[in-house]
Amino acid sequence: MKLLVNIDHVATLRNARGEGYPDPVDAATVCENAGAAGIVFHLRGDRRHIRDEDVYRLKNSVKGLLDFEMAATDEMIKICKEIQPELCTLVPEGREELTTEGGLNMKKVYDDFENRVFPKFEGTGIKMSLFLDPNPEDIKLAHKLGADVIELHTGVYANAVTVTEREKELSRLKKGAELIHELGMTVNAGHGLNLNNLGELIREVPYLQDISIGHALISKSVFWGLDRTVKEYLKIMDEANEK
Ligand code: PXP
Repeated sequence: MKLLVNIDHVATLRNARGEGYPDPVDAATVCENAGAAGIVFHLRGDRRHIRDEDVYRLKNSVKGLLDFEMAATDEMIKICKEIQPELCTLVPEGREELTTEGGLNMKKVYDDFENRVFPKFEGTGIKMSLFLDPNPEDIKLAHKLGADVIELHTGVYANAVTVTEREKELSRLKKGAELIHELGMTVNAGHGLNLNNLGELIREVPYLQDISIGHALISKSVFWGLDRTVKEYLKIMDEANEK
């Protein structure tokens, strides 16, 4: 199991003042040196945090796994193919949303992904990951499409208010992970994960490979520093893995 740090919100902070700092590329280096296995960024259509020049600099600087998260627009596909990340994670993107609000609706996107998106990636060697809620129907369609990886959306689990809600969502995530594994795809997870909910997720949901964490980790680093924060997340992952 590996930790991938999403550094989008280092760019959010930089963009707040239009100065060149803090630099998301420097942040990526600190995360990798602290033990993170890779870096995730989301280049949004509106460029609200990560910008094009960041992407090219990250490509040159990141030594571990690079996960390019994006909406499946022709513009993004072109940039992604130039960058050649190890992993491309396709997500839905709404202009008004504060963050990615749900997984892809596979029934809605299937034909477009089959006819326009996936053929454009053929022969590139880039692994294709789809960000999905733990719905068996979505997972089966992703498999039919030829996805390599499913990133399970953990936002509902992370935001659950009652124990019943949380346990219900954990059970859906567990069944989703089992199905993804059975179908021969890799299970990743992300969204809303933090120091309080990560351990339980890892103990309850099988087959997890890459865990993508951004907002809570970057926020904590304001108080602890990025190096210590990444190490604390890694410690939780190690401890939960041993159980
Ligand atoms: N995975 C995906 C696909 C996402 O869209 C996001 C948010 O950018 C994350 C993981 C990370 O979520 P968070 O910032 O809540 O940790």
